[in-house]
Amino acid sequence: MKRKYGAVAAASLGLALTLTACGSDDGDDSANDSGGSSDGKIGVILPDTESSVRWESADRPALEAAFKAAGVEYSIQNAENDAEKMAQIADSMIADGVTVLAIVNLDSASGAAIEEKANSQGVATIDYDRLTLGGSAEYYVSFDNAVVGELQGRGLADCLGNKRANIVYLNGSPTDNNATLFAEGAHSILDPMTNYTVVGEQAVPEWDNEEAAVIFQQLYTQADGKVDGVLAANDGLGGAAISILEGNGRAGDVPVTGQDATVEGLQNILAGTQCMTVYKSATLEANALADAAIALVNGEDAETTATTKDSESGREVPSILLTPVAITVANVGDVIDDGGQKLEDVCTPDFADACAAAGLE
Ligand code: BGC
Repeated sequence: MKRKYGAVAAASLGLALTLTACGSDDGDDSANDSGGSSDGKIGVILPDTESSVRWESADRPALEAAFKAAGVEYSIQNAENDAEKMAQIADSMIADGVTVLAIVNLDSASGAAIEEKANSQGVATIDYDRLTLGGSAEYYVSFDNAVVGELQGRGLADCLGNKRANIVYLNGSPTDNNATLFAEGAHSILDPMTNYTVVGEQAVPEWDNEEAAVIFQQLYTQADGKVDGVLAANDGLGGAAISILEGNGRAGDVPVTGQDATVEGLQNILAGTQCMTVYKSATLEANALADAAIALVNGEDAETTATTKDSESGREVPSILLTPVAITVANVGDVIDDGGQKLEDVCTPDFADACAAAGLE
């Protein structure tokens, strides 16, 4: 039976409050023997530290909080953008007795291999944030990533208005299924708007921010500088485009999108060099992962919101898909109110005036 996720979140919050009282532990971020009431142990492998600051600054603390609240043992490690290393971490987590392994794959093939091996040893797997094509995860926990792209497309159109405009797309890594969905979502909104012309589009390998700047400079030059808007897939890529626009005296004139509601992204929005970002609450995503993992530990079905078709195998993967939120200068405060960022991190002295103008104090 499937229910709406909100009900599950509320139910598991009650559970979490009860279990917290059982006592937990020391704040160790890589191995936690919390002595909670669940017999299982959950392993999570994050992808890297540079494709987005989110993994270490938002996901890790949110996951720690979710597992501690649930009183379940956990280990969270980071593969540092090395698929070999991710496979080794998975092996050592399995040897260490994890009962559920959640990964953010670096590419589908290496992710699928990890999942197959885990399954063959009786360890259930979950795709966290990125769907592993051809994989065997029991659950996929993420946001609705096509909607993320739609919000970016609509956000860019709102910033550009009805004029004729040339758009450059700076897409995410070609090995990340999410990047495909973001680009498809954005195109689905912008392509029917015939006043816009795509004058450049490229995927950025591994979401590498430095390479993104080089790629954007090339696309900008090829377009003779006639670029009016940039659909950048996340805040890091947006920041790269903004740095090149700055060098060309165009920052602030050319709207740029983003994603992840990072400190940098929000500051760029306040400064007027970025048009919007997409906020995806790490707390919601981490809690959803904890709920799904604990259900697996207990041999129960997790509450899902949808199924997602794996475009490689055709498998319908039971999914928990959360709702992303578009953020512009008008609602930066919502991210802060939700605990997505801290006011003092965003409103540093350099941004004091912009924060005051946006009503953030
Ligand atoms: C995530 C984004 C993130 C990007 C780079 C995507 O799979 O959904 O939030 O910005 O990877 O790490």
